[in-house]
Amino acid sequence: MPENELALDLLLSGDVEIEGRMPWSSNATFLVNIRRGEHTAQAIYKPLRGERPLWDFEPGLHRREVAAYLLSEAMGFGVVPPTVIRDGPLGEGSMQWFVQGDHQEHYFTIFEKREDLHDQLRLMAVLDIVANNTDRKSGHCLLGYDERIWGIDHGLCFAAEFKLRTVIWEFGGEALPEHAIAPLLRLVQAVPLEIATLLVDDEVAAIQERADWLLQQGEFPIDESGRRYPWPLV
Ligand SMILES: Nc1ncnc2c1ncn2[C@@H]1O[C@H](COP(=O)(O)OP(=O)(O)O)[C@@H](O)[C@H]1O
Ligand SMILES: [Mg+2]
Repeated sequence: MPENELALDLLLSGDVEIEGRMPWSSNATFLVNIRRGEHTAQAIYKPLRGERPLWDFEPGLHRREVAAYLLSEAMGFGVVPPTVIRDGPLGEGSMQWFVQGDHQEHYFTIFEKREDLHDQLRLMAVLDIVANNTDRKSGHCLLGYDERIWGIDHGLCFAAEFKLRTVIWEFGGEALPEHAIAPLLRLVQAVPLEIATLLVDDEVAAIQERADWLLQQGEFPIDESGRRYPWPLV
């Protein structure tokens, strides 16, 4: 992964060519090649037009993909690949940096084998609670060749009503990481404008409520109901 500035620049202004549709994707999710001068990259393009209508989310899930990236950056976590909104071959959509990595690995295998990466998984868990992620499947955690954990597929985040669904429950009852505290406090004070403009007012207020709630808990929540899992799990 290059510097964020470089990646964002290429994602925003490179020429886009569709390479193919991603297997297993529920919406129209495309792998694309981006080129500008001698710079090339692969990205994941999700056009608004390809979205399957949902009863519980308004159209425009691509905006939530970008909001999740901006939230991860605002919190200083760096667990979401650079993501922008732009016009593409199939109209407006999200364009996200494609994570080069071992795509056999996902949350469960990473948790099992890579204790050295658990701190990154903890940050992902904090992000998911604040973003109210309704779909943190195991396969929505990637392991990059850069030895970083990257979260993907954040279209179903930021509902105003609390409906967290995630596979990441292993840290339940543990104290929150020290460096999650200041970012949470900042959110309670204010949600960055660039995030707020992508959501409706209730959803912005709910970000602050969840951040506040998490701070008051002081630890990762435990799923008492045992039901806050996405389906399928991977
Ligand atoms: N940024 C990314 N980098 C690498 N692979 C990705 C990225 N985003 C998505 N993918 C791959 O594409 C698949 C479908 O993408 P996903 O975001 O889950 O789409 P959908 O909204 O259709 O579920 C993922 O399971 C993953 O294998
Ligand atoms: Mg998915």
